[in-house]
Amino acid sequence: MKLISGKTIAADIRETLRQRIESLKEAEKRLPKLSVILVGDDPASATYVRNKERACAQTGILSETIRMSKDTTQQALLDVIYRLNADDTVDGILVQLPLPAHIEASEVLMAIEPGKDVDGFHPVNVGKMMTGMQALLPCTPKGVIRMLEAAGYDDLSGMRATVIGRSNIVGKPVAQLLLAKHATVTTVHSHTARIAEVCAEADIVVAAIGRPKLIGADWIKEGAIVIDVGINRDEHGKLCGDVDFEQVKDKAEAISPVPGGVGPMTIAMLLENTLEAYAEHEKGGRGHGSAAV
Ligand code: GUN
Repeated sequence: MKLISGKTIAADIRETLRQRIESLKEAEKRLPKLSVILVGDDPASATYVRNKERACAQTGILSETIRMSKDTTQQALLDVIYRLNADDTVDGILVQLPLPAHIEASEVLMAIEPGKDVDGFHPVNVGKMMTGMQALLPCTPKGVIRMLEAAGYDDLSGMRATVIGRSNIVGKPVAQLLLAKHATVTTVHSHTARIAEVCAEADIVVAAIGRPKLIGADWIKEGAIVIDVGINRDEHGKLCGDVDFEQVKDKAEAISPVPGGVGPMTIAMLLENTLEAYAEHEKGGRGHGSAAV
């Protein structure tokens, strides 16, 4: 079994980004900047945001976190986004999810200038991804693909991939990106009949269903490649994925662990997207989001 260590792959990517920013500094160029908006005081979100700040600092990307109270109105949040859209020193804007229930998340995500949408959640970026145009891609799905590439699975022609989960953030875009790599893709979810049997036919399984250790040995074909996107707590409160690693590890040809798998890749891709948005911004265009006119 080959371990696909997202931790190692992400560290390499971050080092490359750090060196690129180092050269910008040496050339006395403007530095890339990420603005993160955190609404409310959800402890998990606060931890994610702190990790993003730390990663930016370590890479040399400028960052700011705008903290807003959980009672903030949707309009006040939109006004902050409009200000950041117009700010030429800001390259990336990220609104940490989930948002409080009284705020319509889709309205907020649509307000972000697509060229600054480093999460890749804006419908313009989603549409560009679907049609194979250059776009800011969502970080976790992009990280999954980069892990496959780094492990030597680049062209997926002739391979059957099963994605478990159909969220807008992970399942749907992962399926799309696997398709772009020429895999034959099936998406399964909580309403799928014979779900384990369908998975057991796959050469590649990407698990993103959010159920601790749901995927046992009977879900996995001998020699399959398994990427585990799940971040859950097991019955002892220990971090675990959607895949039962101990059961599956000897059956899989390659498998990513949790922790140390997809998680570190998501942050590395956020940093990379910020640098990509910066590069487009510096070119003088209106970035990935601009319609060709
Ligand atoms: N909350 C959990 N995952 C994500 C993510 O990828 N982006 C944002 N903005 N919020 C999240």
